[in-house]
Amino acid sequence: GNIVILVSGGGSNMAAIARAAQARRWAERFGVRVAAVVSNKPDAGGLELGRELGLEAAVVDHRGFDSREAFDAALADTIDRWQPVLVVLAGFMRILTPGFVARYEGRLVNIHPSLLPAFPGLHTHRRAIEAGCQVAGATVHLVTAELDHGPILAQAVVPVLAGDAPEALAARVLSQEHRLYPEAIEGWLAAR
Ligand code: GRF
Repeated sequence: GNIVILVSGGGSNMAAIARAAQARRWAERFGVRVAAVVSNKPDAGGLELGRELGLEAAVVDHRGFDSREAFDAALADTIDRWQPVLVVLAGFMRILTPGFVARYEGRLVNIHPSLLPAFPGLHTHRRAIEAGCQVAGATVHLVTAELDHGPILAQAVVPVLAGDAPEALAARVLSQEHRLYPEAIEGWLAAR
Protein backbone atom coordinates (compact mmCIF):
# COMPACT_ATOMS: atom_id res chain seq x y z
CA GLY A 1 0.00 0.00 0.00
CA ASN A 2 0.96 3.65 -0.39
CA ILE A 3 1.56 6.44 2.11
CA VAL A 4 0.92 9.96 0.80
CA ILE A 5 2.37 12.92 2.69
CA LEU A 6 0.89 16.44 2.50
CA VAL A 7 3.19 19.43 3.08
CA SER A 8 3.02 23.23 2.83
CA GLY A 9 6.63 24.09 3.62
CA GLY A 10 10.13 22.65 3.84
CA GLY A 11 9.02 19.07 4.41
CA SER A 12 11.56 18.09 7.09
CA ASN A 13 8.98 15.79 8.71
CA MET A 14 8.20 14.26 5.32
CA ALA A 15 11.90 13.60 4.80
CA ALA A 16 12.28 12.00 8.23
CA ILE A 17 9.37 9.68 7.46
CA ALA A 18 10.68 8.78 3.98
CA ARG A 19 14.13 8.02 5.40
CA ALA A 20 12.67 5.95 8.25
CA ALA A 21 10.62 3.91 5.77
CA GLN A 22 13.88 2.90 4.07
CA ALA A 23 15.95 2.40 7.22
CA ARG A 24 13.21 0.50 9.07
CA ARG A 25 12.25 -1.60 6.03
CA TRP A 26 8.53 -0.71 6.03
CA ALA A 27 8.12 -2.19 2.53
CA GLU A 28 9.21 -5.66 3.61
CA ARG A 29 7.69 -5.50 7.09
CA PHE A 30 4.33 -3.80 6.41
CA GLY A 31 3.96 -3.83 2.63
CA VAL A 32 3.88 -0.06 2.42
CA ARG A 33 5.98 2.58 0.69
CA VAL A 34 6.06 6.37 0.93
CA ALA A 35 4.80 6.99 -2.59
CA ALA A 36 4.14 10.71 -2.94
CA VAL A 37 4.37 14.20 -1.51
CA VAL A 38 1.52 16.60 -2.28
CA SER A 39 1.50 20.32 -1.51
CA ASN A 40 -1.01 23.17 -1.69
CA LYS A 41 1.94 25.52 -2.36
CA PRO A 42 3.68 25.30 -5.75
CA ASP A 43 6.89 26.66 -4.21
CA ALA A 44 7.00 24.36 -1.18
CA GLY A 45 10.55 23.16 -0.58
CA GLY A 46 9.16 19.79 0.44
CA LEU A 47 8.25 19.04 -3.18
CA GLU A 48 11.86 19.08 -4.41
CA LEU A 49 13.07 17.38 -1.24
CA GLY A 50 10.53 14.62 -1.77
CA ARG A 51 11.60 14.13 -5.38
CA GLU A 52 15.22 13.86 -4.23
CA LEU A 53 14.10 11.10 -1.85
CA GLY A 54 12.38 9.21 -4.68
CA LEU A 55 8.78 10.29 -4.04
CA GLU A 56 6.40 11.39 -6.76
CA ALA A 57 5.35 15.01 -6.23
CA ALA A 58 2.11 16.84 -7.00
CA VAL A 59 0.69 20.33 -6.41
CA VAL A 60 -2.92 21.32 -5.77
CA ASP A 61 -2.72 25.11 -5.52
CA HIS A 62 -5.45 26.31 -3.17
CA ARG A 63 -5.46 29.69 -4.93
CA GLY A 64 -7.06 27.99 -7.92
CA PHE A 65 -10.30 27.26 -6.12
CA ASP A 66 -13.12 29.51 -4.95
CA SER A 67 -14.21 27.38 -2.02
CA ARG A 68 -12.65 25.22 0.67
CA GLU A 69 -14.84 22.34 -0.48
CA ALA A 70 -13.70 22.66 -4.10
CA PHE A 71 -10.04 22.67 -3.08
CA ASP A 72 -10.51 19.67 -0.77
CA ALA A 73 -12.29 17.73 -3.53
CA ALA A 74 -9.42 18.38 -5.94
CA LEU A 75 -6.90 17.47 -3.24
CA ALA A 76 -8.70 14.18 -2.59
CA ASP A 77 -8.78 13.36 -6.31
CA THR A 78 -5.02 13.88 -6.47
CA ILE A 79 -4.34 11.88 -3.31
CA ASP A 80 -6.53 9.01 -4.53
CA ARG A 81 -4.26 8.50 -7.54
CA TRP A 82 -2.15 6.50 -5.04
CA GLN A 83 -5.05 4.82 -3.23
CA PRO A 84 -3.28 5.52 0.10
CA VAL A 85 -3.52 3.28 3.14
CA LEU A 86 -2.37 6.32 5.15
CA VAL A 87 -2.44 10.07 4.52
CA VAL A 88 0.12 11.99 6.58
CA LEU A 89 -0.21 15.74 7.25
CA ALA A 90 3.31 17.09 7.86
CA GLY A 91 3.53 20.84 8.15
CA PHE A 92 0.35 21.06 6.08
CA MET A 93 -1.11 24.48 6.81
CA ARG A 94 -4.71 24.10 5.62
CA ILE A 95 -7.82 23.47 7.69
CA LEU A 96 -9.56 20.51 6.07
CA THR A 97 -13.32 20.31 5.59
CA PRO A 98 -15.42 17.69 7.42
CA GLY A 99 -16.10 16.02 4.06
CA PHE A 100 -12.40 15.56 3.38
CA VAL A 101 -11.74 14.28 6.92
CA ALA A 102 -14.66 11.84 6.67
CA ARG A 103 -13.20 10.44 3.41
CA TYR A 104 -9.92 9.53 5.15
CA GLU A 105 -10.86 9.27 8.81
CA GLY A 106 -8.99 6.47 10.55
CA ARG A 107 -6.14 6.68 8.00
CA LEU A 108 -5.38 10.42 8.34
CA VAL A 109 -2.74 11.60 10.84
CA ASN A 110 -1.19 14.94 11.79
CA ILE A 111 1.64 16.27 13.90
CA HIS A 112 1.06 19.40 15.97
CA PRO A 113 3.92 21.27 17.70
CA SER A 114 2.45 21.32 21.21
CA LEU A 115 1.41 18.90 23.92
CA LEU A 116 -2.27 18.71 22.96
CA PRO A 117 -4.80 19.45 24.27
CA ALA A 118 -2.68 22.44 25.26
CA PHE A 119 -2.17 25.12 22.58
CA PRO A 120 -4.19 23.98 19.56
CA GLY A 121 -3.86 26.38 16.63
CA LEU A 122 -0.92 28.58 15.69
CA HIS A 123 2.14 30.17 17.40
CA THR A 124 2.35 27.31 19.88
CA HIS A 125 5.93 27.94 21.01
CA ARG A 126 5.45 31.64 21.77
CA ARG A 127 2.25 30.80 23.67
CA ALA A 128 3.96 28.10 25.76
CA ILE A 129 6.80 30.46 26.66
CA GLU A 130 4.39 33.30 27.51
CA ALA A 131 2.35 30.94 29.69
CA GLY A 132 5.48 30.05 31.66
CA CYS A 133 5.39 26.37 30.66
CA GLN A 134 8.41 24.37 31.83
CA VAL A 135 7.86 21.66 29.21
CA ALA A 136 6.62 21.73 25.63
CA GLY A 137 6.59 19.25 22.80
CA ALA A 138 4.75 17.70 19.87
CA THR A 139 1.71 15.48 19.38
CA VAL A 140 0.87 12.96 16.65
CA HIS A 141 -2.88 12.44 16.43
CA LEU A 142 -5.60 11.02 14.24
CA VAL A 143 -7.34 13.84 12.39
CA THR A 144 -11.02 14.47 13.10
CA ALA A 145 -13.28 17.31 11.98
CA GLU A 146 -12.35 19.30 15.11
CA LEU A 147 -9.02 21.06 14.52
CA ASP A 148 -6.07 19.66 16.53
CA HIS A 149 -8.34 17.49 18.69
CA GLY A 150 -8.26 13.88 17.44
CA PRO A 151 -7.18 10.78 19.39
CA ILE A 152 -3.53 11.06 20.41
CA LEU A 153 -1.11 8.44 19.01
CA ALA A 154 2.19 9.71 20.45
CA GLN A 155 3.80 12.67 22.18
CA ALA A 156 7.34 13.95 22.76
CA VAL A 157 8.34 16.31 25.61
CA VAL A 158 11.16 18.86 25.60
CA PRO A 159 12.20 21.32 28.32
CA VAL A 160 11.47 25.03 28.00
CA LEU A 161 14.76 26.67 29.01
CA ALA A 162 15.16 30.01 30.75
CA GLY A 163 15.30 32.79 28.17
CA ASP A 164 14.10 30.57 25.35
CA ALA A 165 13.06 32.48 22.25
CA PRO A 166 10.22 30.85 20.27
CA GLU A 167 12.67 29.92 17.51
CA ALA A 168 14.92 28.03 19.93
CA LEU A 169 11.99 26.09 21.37
CA ALA A 170 10.66 25.43 17.86
CA ALA A 171 13.97 23.92 16.80
CA ARG A 172 14.13 21.75 19.94
CA VAL A 173 10.57 20.49 19.28
CA LEU A 174 11.15 19.96 15.54
CA SER A 175 14.13 17.68 16.15
CA GLN A 176 11.91 15.54 18.38
CA GLU A 177 9.17 15.52 15.71
CA HIS A 178 11.62 13.90 13.31
CA ARG A 179 11.98 10.98 15.71
CA LEU A 180 8.36 10.92 16.96
CA TYR A 181 6.48 10.96 13.66
CA PRO A 182 8.19 7.94 12.06
CA GLU A 183 7.87 6.04 15.35
CA ALA A 184 4.15 6.85 15.61
CA ILE A 185 3.49 5.85 12.00
CA GLU A 186 5.38 2.58 12.46
CA GLY A 187 3.24 1.84 15.51
CA TRP A 188 0.12 2.55 13.47
CA LEU A 189 1.30 0.30 10.65
CA ALA A 190 2.14 -2.50 13.09
CA ALA A 191 -1.31 -2.30 14.66
CA ARG A 192 -3.19 -2.46 11.35
C1 GRF B 1 7.01 22.91 11.90
O1 GRF B 1 6.64 24.07 12.64
C2 GRF B 1 6.59 21.68 12.63
O2 GRF B 1 6.64 21.88 14.03
C3 GRF B 1 5.17 21.50 12.18
O3 GRF B 1 5.13 21.93 10.83
C4 GRF B 1 6.19 22.91 10.63
C5 GRF B 1 7.02 22.64 9.39
O4 GRF B 1 7.42 21.32 9.41
N1 GRF B 1 4.77 20.11 12.28
P1 GRF B 1 8.18 20.65 8.11
O5 GRF B 1 9.64 21.00 8.20
O6 GRF B 1 7.56 21.27 6.84
O7 GRF B 1 7.93 19.19 8.23
